[in-house]
Amino acid sequence: MSRRLAVLVAAALACGGTVAACGSSSDSGGGGGGGGGNKEATVTGAKVINASSMNNPPKGTIKYCQGKDTTGAGNAIVDDFNKKFASQGYKATLTEFPASADQQRAQFIQRQQAKSDDCDVFSSDVIWTAEFASQKWLYDLTPYINQAREKYIPAPLETVHYGGKYWGVPETSDAAFIYYNTKKVSSAPTTWQDVYAQAKSKGGIVYQGAPYEGLTCDFLELAFAAGGQVLNADGTKSAFNSPQNVKALTLMADGIKGGSAPKAVTTYMEPETDQAWTSGKYAFMRNWTYAYAADNSSESKVKGDYKVAPLPSFQGGGKAGILGGHNSVISVYTKNPGLALKFADFYASPAFQKKLLLKYSQAAIIPDTYSEADVKKAIPYAPELLQALSQAKARPVSPVYPQISQAIYKNVNDALTGKTSPEAAIKKADSQINSALSTF
Ligand code: GLC
Repeated sequence: MSRRLAVLVAAALACGGTVAACGSSSDSGGGGGGGGGNKEATVTGAKVINASSMNNPPKGTIKYCQGKDTTGAGNAIVDDFNKKFASQGYKATLTEFPASADQQRAQFIQRQQAKSDDCDVFSSDVIWTAEFASQKWLYDLTPYINQAREKYIPAPLETVHYGGKYWGVPETSDAAFIYYNTKKVSSAPTTWQDVYAQAKSKGGIVYQGAPYEGLTCDFLELAFAAGGQVLNADGTKSAFNSPQNVKALTLMADGIKGGSAPKAVTTYMEPETDQAWTSGKYAFMRNWTYAYAADNSSESKVKGDYKVAPLPSFQGGGKAGILGGHNSVISVYTKNPGLALKFADFYASPAFQKKLLLKYSQAAIIPDTYSEADVKKAIPYAPELLQALSQAKARPVSPVYPQISQAIYKNVNDALTGKTSPEAAIKKADSQINSALSTF
């Protein structure tokens, strides 16, 4: 078991870390089985969906669970589904979990361990596919996905692909940007070093620095750009203790010490970051694409006064982004898999995908959405967003990814709050990542 899983992590990393590269290799591998980074992983005995069951499922109500509906898209999907299907006897309800990705995972795990059908469909973060599939908590949706694999942008599709099977239907993809307040700066700097330098004199930068999954993303964007890694090439050991990772963390920690970022960022998740940003006090914000629409409400003090730019490069290194996003996964404990699939299919439909991008600035998973004229008008950076998705790097693919991430964000947060030095934090995370890897 231990060796087999080590090999699968290695295989995932061997496809270059870029999900796009994994996606295309799996496509050329053909047959929906087997190709790509995870071909060594096997999940046997899973329940397999009947793709045509969504056409005429038993009447009923589907319970959809997701994180806090900060954008309104969660209520919109349920409302739209009910508008379209209630007359046929099909309904959906929304259960909101907390804003923190870690807490959403914990909530879903509790229910699955109790074999509960509280969440027929769960909006699963792209990083949980390996873990949830290995636990046999998800329906294998390969027969459904294989009907139209070419419909999806390869990067988000690859995030539901594990062990040669597809365990979800992509809902939204995700990438982060540098937001800049046009009253304070006229353009976004081209390096992280310059972002921090300008932030110091022009109003500061806010980002997600609380100890949770978001901080892993925020840190890895700088670390990968600096040339750092999480695991070694064969995925068997940590490669976290490197001068590149120390450099990235030093820039972030010095940024707080020197006043480029407020100390409070060490407690911010996405909602707190938006709250700070919309006060109008700050020059820069690192946040995901959803914030473009969400932070432009009538109460926002930056309404109409900000623009977005692709993430900058790291001096002496290159550029890097982290691939985010969510997928509809179907619980094996649902009593109505056909209706659950109908809901997931509706989420991924061209009409709802367009609404997601146009109205909520969330990254659609259908490529054509990005070139529609009204979308380009509402979301001027739509072409850059599509490009960012295909260039973004995946976080390590592993059933113990949550433990790896915890080692990263806890220690990174300790360095940001000044509890420990960047060198010591990176070293400690390195040893904790090795311990996590040795548990399987
Ligand atoms: C966003 C991303 C998700 C990531 C999370 C971290 O929701 O889409 O992939 O894990 O932020 O906070």
